[in-house]
Amino acid sequence: MPNAQTEADRQRFRAVMGHFATGVAVVTGLGPDGAVGMTTNALCSVSLDPLLVLVCFDNTARTLPVVQASGRFGVNVLGARQHDLSGQFASKLTIGLGEVLAMGHADGEPLVWYRGAYTSVAGVGR
Ligand SMILES: Cc1cc2nc3c(=O)[nH]c(=O)nc-3n(C[C@H](O)[C@H](O)[C@H](O)COP(=O)(O)O)c2cc1C
Repeated sequence: MPNAQTEADRQRFRAVMGHFATGVAVVTGLGPDGAVGMTTNALCSVSLDPLLVLVCFDNTARTLPVVQASGRFGVNVLGARQHDLSGQFASKLTIGLGEVLAMGHADGEPLVWYRGAYTSVAGVGR
């Protein structure tokens, strides 16, 4: 059996893992009451055949039951200037979503989460 974790253990773990820089995405779902979404950085590709992506949902995330019920979700990778959007989808406030009329991707810098804060990296865009 693993040892019981103390609050100090959890804080240390956060500080250590916080050194692993990640991108930031908003995972969205569609339920009977409309669209929902949550900011996430626990996201990674799993397989090319079949094409699989992994998202880690906290059990308290409101997006989780919506995604479980519908069996599908969207992944929106955020760019370096989208701190505000990330903050909105990381809060428990009511959110607003617009209908998608067009889509595409930019070549700019991604939004990066590092040591508990947003940052960016130069030269990522190709
Ligand atoms: C940078 C960042 C990354 C996050 N990553 C995750 C994550 O991977 N999984 C998760 O469940 N919550 C994550 N959160 C917290 C959720 O965004 C937050 O709990 C949000 O309120 C969930 O929304 P919901 O309850 O409407 O689904 C993250 C927050 C931030 C700011």
